[in-house]
Amino acid sequence: MHQFQEISTRFEAYLKQPGIFPEQPANLYDPCRYLLEAGGKRVRPALCLMANELFGTITEDAFKAAAAIELFHNFTLIHDDIMDKAPLRRGKPTVHAKYGLTAGILSGDVMSIFSFDCLSRVNPVFLPRVLSVYNKTAVEVCEGQQWDMDFEVQETVSIEQYLHMITLKTSVLLAASMQIGAILGGATEAQAALLYEFGKNLGIAFQLQDDYLDTFGEEAKTGKQPGGDIRANKKTFLMIKCRELAGAAATQLLGELLLRDDEEKVEQVTGLLRDLEVDAISRSMIHEFSDKAFGNLEQLDIEPAKKQPLMALAAYLLNRQN
Ligand code: IPE
Ligand code: IPE
Ligand code: MG
Ligand code: MG
Ligand code: MG
Repeated sequence: MHQFQEISTRFEAYLKQPGIFPEQPANLYDPCRYLLEAGGKRVRPALCLMANELFGTITEDAFKAAAAIELFHNFTLIHDDIMDKAPLRRGKPTVHAKYGLTAGILSGDVMSIFSFDCLSRVNPVFLPRVLSVYNKTAVEVCEGQQWDMDFEVQETVSIEQYLHMITLKTSVLLAASMQIGAILGGATEAQAALLYEFGKNLGIAFQLQDDYLDTFGEEAKTGKQPGGDIRANKKTFLMIKCRELAGAAATQLLGELLLRDDEEKVEQVTGLLRDLEVDAISRSMIHEFSDKAFGNLEQLDIEPAKKQPLMALAAYLLNRQN
């Protein structure tokens, strides 16, 4: 069994050879290469490969699927940064900031097509099952992204609506990575379904942590501009809890701050979140979903030693700073 570090090193090598994108038109493919080569944790491909390894030696098909999933993820990042007006990603200017809006739109589009092309190369025996999971997931990610945008201009959002939104925009892709890796390893339906649940709960914890880092993380580590969610009036767990706990004065202040879009807004809202100890509540929510994920993995009828790298990855993600 291989740990996250070794798996991602192997995946990185796979991704490099041979070049995925053609040279021309450079204005279409340079932005794709730029983002893909800017780094990234490669969590989703690692989950796919680790799920695959639970059932034997990692297969060539698992690498193809892992690459497809990372391409899909990178496509969503390009479009997400346009939608979120984000200036920084992976410590560099975002694709649209560097290459312009039209390049961002089209490079994202073409990347998603390359993703499906890559996936379609797996053994035809597995293709119908894998493609059905993949298509369903890709649609759900779009649905989640739309809820995320809708909620920006919606005054109140419940925790339940928030959890539904992040399940769609983020966690189903981690879940599908697990399920597809398992299917390609020869897992039974029940095993693949349990691993999907593991990925789903891990994915919810992952997005909660992403929201936490957007406000409380350091730019040098996250590679993103801190406070972007506050500026955009995103209905993150932090903001929903803040609204829930705020007294009359804080609610009034919050209402005024929401109309602004400046550094002071970020500072004041962050101060309010700290005062109301929403950061600690968010930490415990992250633990709650990670614990569910650990529980799913424990239920899997495979010897515990084989699950250790996945357990370690889940534990690392719990406290990640990037
Ligand atoms: C960022 O994903 C977008 C979310 C769904 C939270 P990652 O945190 O996995 O980004 P990279 O790939 O490591 O840059
Ligand atoms: C992104 O959520 C989810 C997808 C890309 C589908 P965020 O908007 O919170 O991700 P970051 O923080 O920009 O990476
Ligand atoms: Mg974003
Ligand atoms: Mg977003
Ligand atoms: Mg975020």
